[in-house]
Amino acid sequence: MSGRLEGKVAVITGAASGFGAGAAKRFVEEGAKVVLGDIQDDIGQKVAEELGSAAVYVHCDVTQEDQVAGLVDTAVEKFGQLDVMYNNAGVVGALGPISTTPADEWNRTIDIHVNGCFYGCKHAARLMMPREQGSIVSMSSTAGINGGLGPHAYTAAKHAIVGITKSVACELAQHGIRANCISPAGMATPMVAATFGDHTDLQTTREALAKSSPLKGRPGLPEDVVNAALWLASDESGYTSGLTLTTDAGHTIGSANGTPYREYQPFMAEAGKRGV
Ligand SMILES: NC(=O)c1ccc[n+]([C@@H]2O[C@H](COP(=O)([O-])OP(=O)(O)OC[C@H]3O[C@@H](n4cnc5c(N)ncnc54)[C@H](O)[C@@H]3O)[C@@H](O)[C@H]2O)c1
Repeated sequence: MSGRLEGKVAVITGAASGFGAGAAKRFVEEGAKVVLGDIQDDIGQKVAEELGSAAVYVHCDVTQEDQVAGLVDTAVEKFGQLDVMYNNAGVVGALGPISTTPADEWNRTIDIHVNGCFYGCKHAARLMMPREQGSIVSMSSTAGINGGLGPHAYTAAKHAIVGITKSVACELAQHGIRANCISPAGMATPMVAATFGDHTDLQTTREALAKSSPLKGRPGLPEDVVNAALWLASDESGYTSGLTLTTDAGHTIGSANGTPYREYQPFMAEAGKRGV
């Protein structure tokens, strides 16, 4: 299928790498015009140039409200409107036990994820409300659903993004604007590869993720997230708002690495034969 975003204009933060770069490419393939924002200017510029006249790159540190405001304003200046805001920028951030987590690293992590998402929602709403339409998509994580799946600050930030999404969806529905978020499990992007060691390559990361996937032999892929973002950005999800859409092969519904479910079912079948 093509043309799923025909006539739409999207802004993507953290668009130089990983899901953001993948979404920029796919959105353009589906007919959108895209404004890419990031702090990795050389790489972001290159990604935009490869997409031709349908894309433009703007330096944007999402912790700076004026830069986020400028990023969304670029959508109107260059392409006439804003239809889709994809709050995607993120980092793993502060690591380690809670008793030793450095406060400055905690604050920086919250700043990028939570304040970045807030500024994105705020300035997207400013431009979307007069047109009474729009779709805001933000990146949470399985760490935004369960504890223990990420570092403390990351987990707190990703839970907050679920909360911002629900709150904003409640307010903006009356203006015809939807807000949703995506919660992926670990996928082979540069961010996750970096956590596997000293910048392990993407293929090695993908193989490691396949081993721990609940879905036998199938790792989570960046395109799984890009497909989810595309659906939420498009009119195909027109009656969906406030949703946390998981792309985790069921990880957060309790099957963890698959073992407990597989063991539990035969156990229950045996119990059933005994008339339980
Ligand atoms: N990869 C995963 O498995 C995974 C899982 C769940 C959620 N996520 C989330 O998905 C989003 C994208 O992650 P990714 O895996 O594609 O990572 P990535 O590192 O490939 O891309 C993240 C991008 O965000 C940019 N960025 C970082 N700080 C920024 C700032 N202050 N302002 C603007 N841009 C900034 C980086 O430069 C980078 O280009 C993040 O929010 C991340 O937390 C990723």
